[in-house]
Parts: sequence; structure tokens; C-alpha cells
Amino acid sequence: MISVAIELKKVRKTYGTEAVQTVALDDVDLTIDNGKFVVVLGPSGSGKSTLLNVMSGLDHLDEGKITIDDYAIDSMSDKALTQFRREHLGFIFQQYNLLQTLTVKENVEIGARLVEDALDSEKVLDDVGLSDHLNKYPFQLSGGEQQRVSIARALVKRPKILFCDEPTGAVDEETAKSVLEILQNLNKKYETTIVLITHNASIAKLAHSIVKMNSGKIVGVETNKPQEARKISWND
Ligand SMILES: Nc1ncnc2c1ncn2[C@@H]1O[C@H](COP(=O)(O)OP(=O)(O)O)[C@@H](O)[C@H]1O
Ligand SMILES: [Mg+2]
Repeated sequence: MISVAIELKKVRKTYGTEAVQTVALDDVDLTIDNGKFVVVLGPSGSGKSTLLNVMSGLDHLDEGKITIDDYAIDSMSDKALTQFRREHLGFIFQQYNLLQTLTVKENVEIGARLVEDALDSEKVLDDVGLSDHLNKYPFQLSGGEQQRVSIARALVKRPKILFCDEPTGAVDEETAKSVLEILQNLNKKYETTIVLITHNASIAKLAHSIVKMNSGKIVGVETNKPQEARKISWND
């Protein structure tokens, strides 16, 4: 049976003052099933980052309900939310946010220390193809390699859900494909639910499900037959 990982009901989020308001999320309803690779696709400013931040408890909503498993994250205190994110969720952003004074392995061990049943850091670094770089520092790595360290740091906690905000926004096409291939493999191997946001329609081809956004609304949800990241052509 397919179980639900995340459910949003009538979620609203506005920014700004009463005089000048931006409706970033306009009555959004969405269900994300466990184990799926979901891509949220939309132009810049359509509310993708706001959606990700609100559904992962990084930011507060104004109205509506959000549950992750059976946790009502819209009604948790900040302290409880921080603890919940630390134990159950993983995050990957366009910026790698690695600690520059620590080695690759030490950066991943920071992630491992947040939970009791972490995976082995070296094993996860092997999964992302970085076994030969354990003792290097971030500045000695390419952008794609640094992003793979941040993926390993998130994955070592065995998060239930991995949230990725434009994870390949700062790397070239070939590097992007290798990063996406790793995410696709980890989704299969660990059955981690992945929610990835992008403005690049090509990237959506690797998803099980494509959520389309425009002007703060979800304008469509499509089921998709995932293509392999490697085989996606970037220009159509
Ligand atoms: N902190 C903020 N303060 C004011 N407006 C914001 C803030 N964050 C986002 N917005 C506005 O909300 C809308 C959605 O933004 P965002 O979720 O970042 O879109 P996307 O990630 O799709 O580019 C945009 O109009 C943006 O300008
Ligand atoms: Mg964004």
C-alpha cells in the first residue's frame, strides 16, 4: 500500500505589509506519497521555494494544514520543529553550506552526529562517488563534488524526506546530470522520498510526479514515467 509522506491542505502564505502583499502560496493542496521522486516545476517567483520552506517546517504558513507522516507540523513550536527537521528531514540547497575547515568526511560526520541511527559516513560517501576524497577540504573539490558532499551529509541521517531547492542551479549540465543521477539512485536504494524544485523543465523528466506551479498556485500534477538522469536531454 502506498502511504502518504506529506499532505498540504489549503495552505496560504503571504509576504509583505498589509499595503503591499505578495501571495506566495494561494490555497495550495498537495499530497506526496512515500518513496516518490517529486519535482516541483515553475518559473522564477512562482512560489517554489516558499512551498518547500513551508512544507518542510523551515518557515511558517499563514493558514492551512501540513502533515508529515502523522506529525502536524503547522502546529509545532519552533523548538519542536527544529528537533523534527534534525531527526527526520534532509536539505540540499543551491549553495553547498559546507564547513571549510573540516574535511569531506568530517563534514558528513556532522550530519551523522545529529541522529542515533546514522549510516556509516564512508559508506555514504562511497554511494556519492567520493571515496577517493575523504580527507580533502571543500576548496579542493569542484562544485559538483561539493554538492555531492552536501548530499552525503543529508543522506547519512537516513532522512524520511530529502528536500532539494535548485540543487544543480550552480553547476554545468554534465555536473548537474551526475548530481541528479546520484539523487535518483539514492531514491531507489534507500527509498527516500525526494522533493526537488527547479525552473528547468528537462529536470522534471526524472520524476515520478511533476507538480507545476505558477503565481503561488499549483496548476497541475502529472504522473510521469521517470527517465534516467544521464539520458535526459537538456534542450527540449
Ligand atoms: N522573504 C520574502 N519577503 C518578501 N517576499 C518574498 C519573500 N520570499 C519570497 N517572496 C516573494 O514570494 C514570491 C514567491 O517567491 P519564491 O517562493 O522564492 O519563488 P521561486 O522559488 O519559485 O522563485 C515572489 O513574488 C517573491 O518575490
Ligand atoms: Mg526559489
